[in-house]
Amino acid sequence: MESARLRQPSRPWSWLDDRLGIGALRYPVPDHANSLAYTLGGITLVSFVLLVLTGIYLAQFYDPSPARAHTSVAYITDTAFAGELVRSLHYWLASAYVVTLVLHMVRTFATGAFKAPRELTWITGVLLFLLAAGLLFTGTVLKQDQEAVEALAHNNEIADLFGFLGFWFSADFTNNVSIVTRLYIAHVSILPVLVAVVLAIHMLLIKRHRISPLPWGTPAEVEARERSEREETFTSHLKHIGKWALVLLGLVLILSGLAPAALGPIGVEGIEITKPPWYFLWLYPWEDWLGLKALYIIPALLTLGLLAIPFLDRSPERDPRRRKFWIALGAVVLIAWVGLTIYGHVTVPVSHTGMGE
Ligand code: HEM
Repeated sequence: MESARLRQPSRPWSWLDDRLGIGALRYPVPDHANSLAYTLGGITLVSFVLLVLTGIYLAQFYDPSPARAHTSVAYITDTAFAGELVRSLHYWLASAYVVTLVLHMVRTFATGAFKAPRELTWITGVLLFLLAAGLLFTGTVLKQDQEAVEALAHNNEIADLFGFLGFWFSADFTNNVSIVTRLYIAHVSILPVLVAVVLAIHMLLIKRHRISPLPWGTPAEVEARERSEREETFTSHLKHIGKWALVLLGLVLILSGLAPAALGPIGVEGIEITKPPWYFLWLYPWEDWLGLKALYIIPALLTLGLLAIPFLDRSPERDPRRRKFWIALGAVVLIAWVGLTIYGHVTVPVSHTGMGE
């Protein structure tokens, strides 16, 4: 319901509206778009924006030259004004980004939101998923403690495995700028810019196709409910996202206070004694079983599977209860992901670098 103030625009509001057309944001969205499940994409977007803001602050003190990287992170933690808090917020927001992104994916998968005509919305989503993985990986190597040095060693070996195709990731790409500095450039400019571009396309497609209908029932029932559903304005939808954004901010603030981002002693090259951050742990057992090549074979298979979904599950059915095979397959993948993460957490660290050939 619009407030009386918006129905009778105040002067500054109509002045701005005449010039910027902000009123166009009051386009209708279906009522169900305001439920938490359908707001997860918006919450993911909020995490991304907060990651950029906290990242800009950290960049004022971080030095990406290999010799100074670790010291500068220690400076952020110990000396810079609110440095430890902002670094911890950035760290926990990264986890929030992964969690809300995966939940958003699960929601769009379970409700058949990727079905015609929204296949490209899903494909741009898969690209955002891959870019998130890139941001998480490049973020891991920056602090140059033991975990970071080992992540970098993995990067260098995979670049070698790929030969010519891995040239950008190779430490030998140029003698002028170190690989740590180049991964930093990817982390703070190349990848965020790509996220912004792909996200803009994702959003334009969502606006064009509207939010998919609630999935329950036969396709005819879904269509009938879609036609009769109450509508709200997009601006009221933004308020719902704002409410969850505050919850998210409260949660990451509490987590940052309880468990600030860690920084180990400066890393030593040539040994492998740590494990990756939790969001990459599911890959760790694969590395035990297949060697380093698992790090590109398994993600490549997962990516191909995700890209194929809209072209395989093509029936008009959206109701998860009427798509038992696909829902069971999705559940198996999700349970395997959680199971492998737990398994990766409890196994003893072993050396994988040098096992790639
Ligand atoms: C940076 C990451 C992402 C952001 C910020 C984002 C943002 C959004 C937003 C705001 C919506 C509107 C509805 C909602 O919130 O549920 C949406 C819809 C959608 N997203 Fe994403 N998304 C991201 C990643 C993904 C991923 C990884 C996938 C799947 C592979 C995906 C697939 C979709 C689909 C299919 C829709 C249409 C939903 C519908 O019409 O019901 N998105 N996204």
